[in-house]
Amino acid sequence: MTTVDPQLRERAEELREVLTLANHEYYVLDRPTLSDPEWDRLFAELRRIEEAHPELRASDSPTLRIGATPASRLEKTRHIAPMLSLDNAFNLDELEAWETRNARIADEVETCGYIAEPKLDGIAVALTYEGGVLVKGATRGDGVIGEEVTQNLRTIHDIPLRLKGGPIAPPARLEVRGEAFMSLAGFEELNARRAAAGKATFANPRNSAAGSLRQLDASITAARPLRFFAFALELDPGSTDPLPVRTQGEVLELLEEWGLPVNHRRSRCASLADVEEYVRTLEAERGELDYEIDGVVVKVDPLPLHSELGIVGGREPRWAIAYKFAPTLATTRLLSIEVNVGRTGSLNPYAVLEPVEIGGATVRLATLHNEGDIRRKDIRAGERVVVKRAGDVIPQVVGPITEEAGERPPGFQMPDRCPVCETPVERPANEVMIYCPNGACPARSFWGIVHFASRGATDIRGLGERTIQQLIDAEAVSDVADLYTLDVPTLLGLPGFQTKSAENLLAGIEGSKDRGLARTLYGLGVRHVGGTAAQLIAQEFGTIDRIISAPLEEIAAVHGIGETTAGALAAYFAEPRNLEIIEKLRRARVRLSEERARTPAGPLSGLTFVITGTLPTLSRKELTTVIEQAGGRVTGSVARSTDFLVVGKDAGSKLAKARELGVGELTEPELLARIATAEIPIPEATGHE
Ligand code: IVH
Repeated sequence: MTTVDPQLRERAEELREVLTLANHEYYVLDRPTLSDPEWDRLFAELRRIEEAHPELRASDSPTLRIGATPASRLEKTRHIAPMLSLDNAFNLDELEAWETRNARIADEVETCGYIAEPKLDGIAVALTYEGGVLVKGATRGDGVIGEEVTQNLRTIHDIPLRLKGGPIAPPARLEVRGEAFMSLAGFEELNARRAAAGKATFANPRNSAAGSLRQLDASITAARPLRFFAFALELDPGSTDPLPVRTQGEVLELLEEWGLPVNHRRSRCASLADVEEYVRTLEAERGELDYEIDGVVVKVDPLPLHSELGIVGGREPRWAIAYKFAPTLATTRLLSIEVNVGRTGSLNPYAVLEPVEIGGATVRLATLHNEGDIRRKDIRAGERVVVKRAGDVIPQVVGPITEEAGERPPGFQMPDRCPVCETPVERPANEVMIYCPNGACPARSFWGIVHFASRGATDIRGLGERTIQQLIDAEAVSDVADLYTLDVPTLLGLPGFQTKSAENLLAGIEGSKDRGLARTLYGLGVRHVGGTAAQLIAQEFGTIDRIISAPLEEIAAVHGIGETTAGALAAYFAEPRNLEIIEKLRRARVRLSEERARTPAGPLSGLTFVITGTLPTLSRKELTTVIEQAGGRVTGSVARSTDFLVVGKDAGSKLAKARELGVGELTEPELLARIATAEIPIPEATGHE
């Protein structure tokens, strides 16, 4: 091993420090301290040293911002905790209803204050720092698993490659969450450049930010004017060393101290009335910002209340909400109303519009939801209509403009028969949708297979919509399990297939057999069972047979799953046709099981707990960790299968339910005494998490 001249090592370190500081002052603080030529000179010197002595390269070197060798595809990566989405409020009444709902769970929300922040219209990313150094960056993906775009994120100058210290040091490992976006000026400039070069322009800043970030070649990302704002922080779930911050406001200050850019337009609001004032001001000043925002994110300020309020359906926290600004509107002509048939058999009407530009995108189609929706809005083919498009929401027809003289065209009527298979439609009581009841309807099979083969499900490479349609037309498949019976001769009978392409598709199908229970279950397209719900259920039960035989209430008791989802699963498995599909999948050796995260054996092995009320010393999250480390399980709602309810102060409906079902009760000290014999670290009470 050659030893490097220590002076050179020192010089490299010094250069990295100076350049990093200069970058921060230039990009984040907007207060340049080095002239451009000075910066260039120092940068070139550092690059020379690192090229001559690769062992002196550091993973936080400013030279990494230039972009390295292109990757061949983006790798998947799991977030330390799910990246959540947000529930929306579209007006102040809905915002108030949100507070009222929360106050029923924790009445302090009315007095403890909020943090309001602009809702950036970019793409969510997670940055992992280890020992203060940026080691990984990922997109949100499905919230659980994202795509690794570390090298691309390193090219964004707002993002520190190394965190600064400060009175509170960054923990050994943490994930910073925030939004990557493109400034409006940067977007205009980029589009002008692309247009001049004869390249396609981007529809809006959000699309161009997403496209820029998901490049395989980071030097392309480096050439795009991307920016970043941080808004949240996640520690390892097992981390026993909580940060000394008690509010969302303090989290943002801490992120700022560590050198991360945080939006200056954030505001602490003492009450919802202040939030409303903030919302009005920001909406009025929206046009003055140099980036697109589509609303305000309102977050309950004290962190202990976040765990108190919890998360709905494993996806949306109750402690935050997105207040959406009024959408962008345009008028155009409604050419016709068409109907397609979805995966569940629902007949979905949609509007065919004269193409119109709204907020930078061309709109040709819009959803119409259902027959009632069309009636209420009283829209008729041939008339002019108002169309709205808000953020990434599918365009919608708001209503007709009926100033035109003369008689109005006739109103719309839903067909009595499925437009695809002509089976008479069904109108279930209490439902607004109309359904094609034919499980073998080609349209239902088509969308069912499209969903099954999609990226988040079994990800069958090479199986696109066109091929699926051909397979259905040739009657080679009628459900997802039939895919596994395909062979080369059958595929050669389809237009456009040759031996090579047939073999490739079969290899793609073969490869999809091992995606595991969660993704396959999601792929089956059971109503209400999205990707996250499928993961939660698969983790809990481990095999498809256990899910099929589980009583409804046991499924509903899974943390993050509710009765609607459990009911939908039960209804799905009650259909003989669906059980047959499962059998066919099994025969084809599709993996219908999942490795379960093993709970350690301990004094609470085999026992299921629910926690309710305010505990005397630990937070619920801390007690959950203690129970899990002792081998027990914690679920969100009381069921017959619950062994004990851990009862704190002010317990409510869970206690009543437990008494009704005869579930055992324990206090926190009683539970801790039970496990005290084993060596389970009990965290010091911190009053927050
Ligand atoms: S908080 C539970 N804060 O909005 C916390 N999100 O609909 C979830 N977003 O995926 C995120 N600006 O990409 C938060 N100031 C802000 C935000 C923000 C934009 C995006 C974010 C998230 C989506 C949620």
